Amino acid sequence: MAQHEQEPIEEAPEPYELDEEARARRAAALAQIRQYGDPVLRAKALPVDTFDDELRQEVARMGQLMEDAWGIGLAATQVGRLRRLLVYRIEADSPVVALVNPVLEWSSREEEIAEEGCLSLPGVGVEVERPVHIRVRAQDEYGEEQVIEASGLEARCIQHEMDHLDGVLILDRTSRDQRKAAVRALRERERAAAATA
Ligand code: NI
Repeated sequence: MAQHEQEPIEEAPEPYELDEEARARRAAALAQIRQYGDPVLRAKALPVDTFDDELRQEVARMGQLMEDAWGIGLAATQVGRLRRLLVYRIEADSPVVALVNPVLEWSSREEEIAEEGCLSLPGVGVEVERPVHIRVRAQDEYGEEQVIEASGLEARCIQHEMDHLDGVLILDRTSRDQRKAAVRALRERERAAAATA
């Protein structure tokens, strides 16, 4: 998820060191993240039943990609793996959290609209209304049960990533007008990229 309003969801605020190296790292990370138009982004991910070193390596790899791409969340579908796994980190200095097989147990009636972006939808920011508070049951990368109670940006980020596991994008959760404008912008970007390729 990249985030606007204060900051866009998934796409983190621009870091202070906007040096060439960080930009190159970001471009390399984005090149490994599936982009709009890739059918895998519309597929439903399958439950994880094996908690092995391979899974933990994937969590580490996704955490690194998310960080390099200046993101605050990333779902396995975005790296082409159809399994119910997501990572996120809201605070720059906190550890990356991995949620495996997350299930929304409860969400508040209170909802809030904020602009969200997505690492798979470059340059797009649309308004999405979501519950402000949630409770999610999930496993960690070792198979341990965990219950996460989250509010605000953290709750928004988790819901955004859980949507990815069901093939749902922010385009599906915004107004018709914003969706049309976003799709137009994405197509123009594609055309521009094809023209310079
Ligand atoms: Ni996203």
